[in-house]
Formats: sequence, structure tokens, C-alpha cells
Amino acid sequence: MLKKFTTLYRYIIDEERKSPDATGELSDLLADIALACKVISLEVNRAGLIDLMGITGNENVHGEQVKKLDEYAHDTLVRAMELSGYLCAIASEESEDFIPVKEKFMGLRPMSKYIVHFDPLDGSSNIDANISIGTIFSIYNRISKGGPGTLEDCLQQGIKQVAAGYIIYGSSTIMVYTTGNGVHGFTLDPTVGEFLLFYENIMIPKRSKTYSINEGNYHKWTGGLRKYIDELKSIDKDKGRPYAARYVGSLVADFHRNLLYGGLFMYPGDSKNPNGKLRLLYEANPLAMIVEQAGGRATNGSQRILEIIPLDLHQKTPLFIGSEEDVLDAEKYLK
Ligand code: AHG
Ligand code: MN
Ligand code: MN
Repeated sequence: MLKKFTTLYRYIIDEERKSPDATGELSDLLADIALACKVISLEVNRAGLIDLMGITGNENVHGEQVKKLDEYAHDTLVRAMELSGYLCAIASEESEDFIPVKEKFMGLRPMSKYIVHFDPLDGSSNIDANISIGTIFSIYNRISKGGPGTLEDCLQQGIKQVAAGYIIYGSSTIMVYTTGNGVHGFTLDPTVGEFLLFYENIMIPKRSKTYSINEGNYHKWTGGLRKYIDELKSIDKDKGRPYAARYVGSLVADFHRNLLYGGLFMYPGDSKNPNGKLRLLYEANPLAMIVEQAGGRATNGSQRILEIIPLDLHQKTPLFIGSEEDVLDAEKYLK
């Protein structure tokens, strides 16, 4: 039976038609992000050949080595977003301050009403080892009334997101997004250069048998978390334990596997980093919107991620995200 040949753009337009007040701008913005990520995907797949491997020697605001692909992905996305004309501001992990979109690009569209947050390249430490990496994005409506966007436009709670998604550059290039009407996944067919519908209305299993956490930090965890992880590894047939440990070190790859198969991803705060390592605006919030749309749960151990009020573009948050019942179990031990 011929599989429906539904391209990402066709699907976005069909979805847009369902919402009467849609202007088509969000659809075009999503398509612009997809196009930029196809370009990034090309470079990711050729990085070794054209010396994009290795590092630039620069450091980003977090004091992390900026890998060439981080910069390349950031530049590609910013350029595509400015040219789209739909944005008034852009925020990125690779830029200390937010980037107000220049007036000359804003003339293209009446209101330039969107803000986009990016993690241009997630899992950077895995680039040179050819392990899956990705791009994460989050889209909001502007609050300010006109002109270039403001910091206030960029510091909105995750519940205000109008869309969120990620692209994984792995054995194939996959794009997963939501605009609040379910979670849909597309696989890039490089022969035609189109993202084709692959998973419609993804739902994450309520309970899983997989947990993802960097056990190397065990000595820095609270007693409650140690007890929980020890129990996940103990033998308890009724509770389907021991769980399997799966941890790639690229959030998007761990998240995507857990979204499809079920699983609990944890990046907790610890004695050294009380807010953990992951960033609220361009890692936790977009994935939290996706997992909730898929019937899962995302908290910082007690508070819903999407309700955390951001105070800083790069603020970190502990993250417990995935199968709802597993997240609820973890929260009981953290209390
Ligand atoms: P980024 O490459 O954007 O900085 O993100 C890396 C993050 C995330 O992808 C992953 O889950 C986490 O770092 C792994 O951190 P640890 O190596 O500390 O476990
Ligand atoms: Mn990241
Ligand atoms: Mn990154």
C-alpha cells in the first residue's frame, strides 16, 4: 500500500487550515527552520570531510569549548530566521545576549511577531565521535508592540510557547514538532530533500523500563535521588525492575528514544550545580511542551517546567522528563 507522501510543508499547511485564525506565518516560520536544518544536516554529514570537526578555540558564555559546528549551526539558523521576516528577536545558546532582528529584515512582514530560542547544536561533545546530535527550537509570540524585540519578549514562561521542536542528525535526519495539536515526526528523504511524515500524534508510554542519567554524578546527588536510582536497579518483578540504563549524552537523542519507547530522562541539580546543567529556555521548555503534548510529564523535581518564570536567557533547571508515572515516582523520592 503506497505510504502517504506527506511532506512537512503539506502537513503544516493542512494543520494550519484547522485553526481559523491562522495567518500562515507560523507555518512559513516552521518551514524556514526546517530548511535551515536541512543545510545544517548536510554539513553535519560532511563535517569530517570539510574540516568542520574539531574546535574553534573560542569559548561560549558557559565557558564551554565552541565546536565549529555549534557556530555554523548558530549562524545558519540566525541568517535563515532574519531572512524569514517573521521574527523580532532571536535567542541562542551560542549568543550571550538575545539578537534583536534588524529593522531592515522586519520590513518584510507587517508585525514580525515571533521570538525563537535555539540550541543550535545539542550534544556538541559527541560531534567528533559521530554520535547523534541535534537542534532544539522554541517559538513565542512577541509581547512588545512594535520595533525590534525586547528581553521581556524573550523571557516568557514555557506555557506561552506557540510551537516547539527538535531535529536529530543521526542515522537519518528527523524533525519532531508540535504547535499544540499533538506531536508529529518527519524523516528527511535526502533524495528529494523533503521531510516526510513518519509519526503522527506520537504518544509516550505512561510507564517505561528505561532511565537516562549520568551516573558519574552519583556522589553529588541528594539521598532521595540515590535511593530512587538504586531502587530502579534493584530486582522487583512487580515493578518491572531493574530498568535498563540508556544515556547517549545528547539530550535530543535520549529524549527522542524515550519519547518513542517510553523512558525517564533526568538531569538533576547536585551539590556542585544546584540547578543542574540544562538550560530552561532552549532545552527544557521546548522538550517539556512536546512531552506534555505526547501525554508525558516534565518537572524540575517538583515544579512543572512550563510554569517556571525565566529570569535569565541562559538560566539552568534540573530536568525530570518522560513517561508520566516514572516522573511522578522520581518526584516522590525527591521530596
Ligand atoms: P550542548 O551540547 O547543547 O551543550 O548540550 C549538551 C547537554 C545535553 O545534550 C546532554 O544531555 C548533556 O549535555 C550531557 O551532559 P553530561 O555530559 O554532563 O552528562
Ligand atoms: Mn544542548
Ligand atoms: Mn548546544
